[in-house]
Amino acid sequence: MTNDPRQVVSSLGAQYIESIGNLTEGLKVTNAEVARLTQKVTDSFEGAESARFRIVMQSLVRHLHAFIDDVALTEAEWAAAIDFLTRTGQASDGQRQEFVLLSDVLGASMATVAVNAPADPAATEATVLGPFFVAGSPLFALGDDLSGGASGQPCFVSGSVRDTGGNSIAGARIEIWESDENGRYDVQYDKAVTANRGHLFTDDDGGYRFWSVRPAPYPIPDDGPVGQLLAAAGRSPMRPAHIHFMVSAPGMHTLITHIFMEDGDHLHDDAVFGVKQSLIKSFADEPAGPAPEGRHLDQPWSRVRFDIVLAEEHTSIA
Ligand code: BEZ
Ligand code: FE
Repeated sequence: MTNDPRQVVSSLGAQYIESIGNLTEGLKVTNAEVARLTQKVTDSFEGAESARFRIVMQSLVRHLHAFIDDVALTEAEWAAAIDFLTRTGQASDGQRQEFVLLSDVLGASMATVAVNAPADPAATEATVLGPFFVAGSPLFALGDDLSGGASGQPCFVSGSVRDTGGNSIAGARIEIWESDENGRYDVQYDKAVTANRGHLFTDDDGGYRFWSVRPAPYPIPDDGPVGQLLAAAGRSPMRPAHIHFMVSAPGMHTLITHIFMEDGDHLHDDAVFGVKQSLIKSFADEPAGPAPEGRHLDQPWSRVRFDIVLAEEHTSIA
């Protein structure tokens, strides 16, 4: 056994490469020149100080070269790809993240969610974060209205946060964000308002409740390069109606998820592949009249329950 960090790193890499041998065997490279090049480029990362960086980059190079070989990529196609990525970067700024959209529509975001999922099947399933989470959202008390004047039918959301053993988690932080009835988030309006977003903490029994609006389906931003990609594929930019949640508590794996509205459109063709059966919930229609939290509504409203189960930290599959 050696204490030389470079040798330790090198042997770790060798073990890893051996253990994924079966996976990389699937990466058939037919062009001998590409195969030689792949070896040379992966070797060029051997001196990397970080073992993880080296492993990730060597795998990336193997997959990228195999892809180029597989489709016999033309120089014009590679130039078009570079132009596409350049425009994707140029379309991104403090408000808009076109690369997040690209990751989402290619399923890369959901694949990353999958490999980082807690191993415990009792935990609530995660889904895509999306580009509209904003850190530093306003704090609300339980039962408050988060809508901040956003348009839409009032919707009462309640539930509990528990661990996988069924124990309630008091003081869990729940971040909520949602579009309005027109399918737009507050940050998509020119006016700087905060609406349909906030955070609150569960009570001593792990319970939570808040008012917001009934969600609506909406298109992901499709006026940029990612929209062109979807159009070229004949794909819809639509997402089914949903409410976003991010739930955290000390010692627990942070859950990023949504609830989706049962019977809504686009549950089967979500542009970002985020729908999971367990996250589809029934939104009950309620008539005008007395409503929770001492409200009296002169219009119909909806109600949904979402019980959340958090896994303990460090229980991922990977
Ligand atoms: C969202 O649900 O907010 C979202 C997710 C992925 C891409 C665009 C929007
Ligand atoms: Fe969303």
